[in-house]
Amino acid sequence: MSDGESDQSAEADADVEAESDADAESDADAESDADAEAEAETDAEAGVETETNADTQPDEESPDQPPVLLVRDDREFLVQPGEEMGTDLGILEVPADVEPGDTVETHLDEAFHVRRLRGPDLFHHFERTGAPMVPRDIGLIIGETGIARGDRVLDTGTGTGVLSASMARAGATVVTYERDPEFADVARENMELGGVADAVDVRTGDLTEELEAGALESAPFDVLTLDTGDAAEIVTHAPELLVEGGFVAVYSPFIESTRDVVEAAREAGLANIRTRETIQREMQFDDRGSRPSTAPVGHTGYLTIARNE
Ligand SMILES: C[S@@+](CC[C@H](N)C(=O)[O-])C[C@H]1O[C@@H](n2cnc3c(N)ncnc32)[C@H](O)[C@@H]1O
Repeated sequence: MSDGESDQSAEADADVEAESDADAESDADAESDADAEAEAETDAEAGVETETNADTQPDEESPDQPPVLLVRDDREFLVQPGEEMGTDLGILEVPADVEPGDTVETHLDEAFHVRRLRGPDLFHHFERTGAPMVPRDIGLIIGETGIARGDRVLDTGTGTGVLSASMARAGATVVTYERDPEFADVARENMELGGVADAVDVRTGDLTEELEAGALESAPFDVLTLDTGDAAEIVTHAPELLVEGGFVAVYSPFIESTRDVVEAAREAGLANIRTRETIQREMQFDDRGSRPSTAPVGHTGYLTIARNE
């Protein structure tokens, strides 16, 4: 792909993020959008075109087969087996029995390699609504809470659904609340695309309101994950939502809301309350020397972990 095409890809991502900014009401969402935009720029730097199923036809999709990535140079498409899709290199009819390692060709004989979907691909290929969590913060949440096969997780808000899908891929079953009905619909489609629709129950609704109305009947959960501006209000309910020894993990882009979360956790009697800034410096190695990248993509937010004892 030419540099020009890379730029187009970055602009397309930036457009999606701008829409998310308009839709997302909380400042927290807007801040996370900026993070995602920075990450999209990183994609562009890496020269990866991350379109997801532009011009796809449902055709004869095979629901039993997991989705796969079609890769050629800097092009990547996440597709369902059996799907038909248009690309700039011709029409691709993805066989229903396609497998990682295969090669498929467009009607113009242009070849794409088939790759198995892995966790970080969700961030790049899901349709974006509420700002998705970046892979490193997902890794921190899974590592700090020990999310594993058999766990039940309550998550809010769903947004794009990258965190929910990643936890499901780690083996958990997830109940996730999204107050924006359109975002919830997109998230359900993303769960299908990520091959985790069976493990993630996307519920349309405001979790804070549900809790105040006493309407949530599926507690207790092993882990509660929160990525919303009103996380502190939900944290006050953590003892009734979690099993003994269960974890709450709150991602907050701003220090003010983080402080509210910590105070709410203390008042709720949670234990082992710890907050860490999530920050990483990318390193650059070139002919002149080695140093941290000067690109301003370091801080994404604050992660507060606490335990129900
Ligand atoms: C930053 S996004 C979450 C992104 C998600 N963690 C991911 O990885 O894709 C926040 C989402 O929470 C939703 N939201 C905010 N407060 C909520 C609440 N009280 N109940 C349900 N959804 C809420 C917003 O509509 C928004 O879509």
